[in-house]
Amino acid sequence: MTIYLDGHYMPISEAKISVLDRGFIFGDGVYEVIPVYSRKVFRLESHLRRLQHSLDGIKLANPHSDAKWTAIINELIKRNPEQDQYLYLHITRGVAKRDHAFPNPPVKPTVFVMSNPLLTPPAEFLQSGVGAISAEDNRWLRCDIKAIALLPNVLLRQLAVDAGCAETILIRENEFMTEGAASNIFVVKKGILLAPPKDNLMLPGITYDVVLELAAANNIPHEVRRIAASEVFVADELLLTSSTKEVLAITRLDGKPVGTGKPGAMFARLHKLYQDFKLNVMRAS
Ligand code: PDD
Repeated sequence: MTIYLDGHYMPISEAKISVLDRGFIFGDGVYEVIPVYSRKVFRLESHLRRLQHSLDGIKLANPHSDAKWTAIINELIKRNPEQDQYLYLHITRGVAKRDHAFPNPPVKPTVFVMSNPLLTPPAEFLQSGVGAISAEDNRWLRCDIKAIALLPNVLLRQLAVDAGCAETILIRENEFMTEGAASNIFVVKKGILLAPPKDNLMLPGITYDVVLELAAANNIPHEVRRIAASEVFVADELLLTSSTKEVLAITRLDGKPVGTGKPGAMFARLHKLYQDFKLNVMRAS
């Protein structure tokens, strides 16, 4: 596996960073996860825009132009064997003596990019859906920043794993649903697709955008608005979206069936639309 680190391509076994890197010491950095289908990058522009938003959010200058990012990414895709990959981009505030305040003058950010095989959910998950649990969203108030400091998400996700489930659905202040520990969540009620609004309490998912665009283009009734926790527990369907999971049905929540307990009509429709979109946009030519 070939990775990119600070201007160089190398086998991952040769990649080394300083123990004083602020990413290691403080979790002071941001990241992106970008799917690659048939060696073509999915929605690169949107991912680079979100990366810029995250960098702005932590007041870190973008180390590269979009053209340079594109060149690095395309070179890395070429140097890795799989047709379908997922790219992980990671930028930290660099190496400096330990002090919470930003290094002054600024130091060179650390830039790390790796590619992994993209393994989308197996047929079994598509047929039966996955289980989820609910938990209080105890993260900070800038969940729109794709920060590498993921300890709250890690702990929340582990709750699901410990319960034999795939995801944790997060509820703020006992009142409304924000997202999953590592995904966005949609609720379906009476044939309407409900999505929480993009604000500071959730990551603005790229897959979330694609799903809403597909809903709009195909006359699927949808509403973007705050979703009360109570609506989640009486949903006809729950859907999870992310770059690596694409669109998945959640068929059990806190041990109880969601709707019929089987992936529903909205899931079937959106999953097919998403796959067709991928095929047309990515695999054509
Ligand atoms: N996570 N919300 C959170 C908290 C996430 O971590 C993710 C994705 C999403 C979905 O965003 P997108 O559709 O752009 O992937 C929502 C990635 C996959 C990860 O951390 O591995």
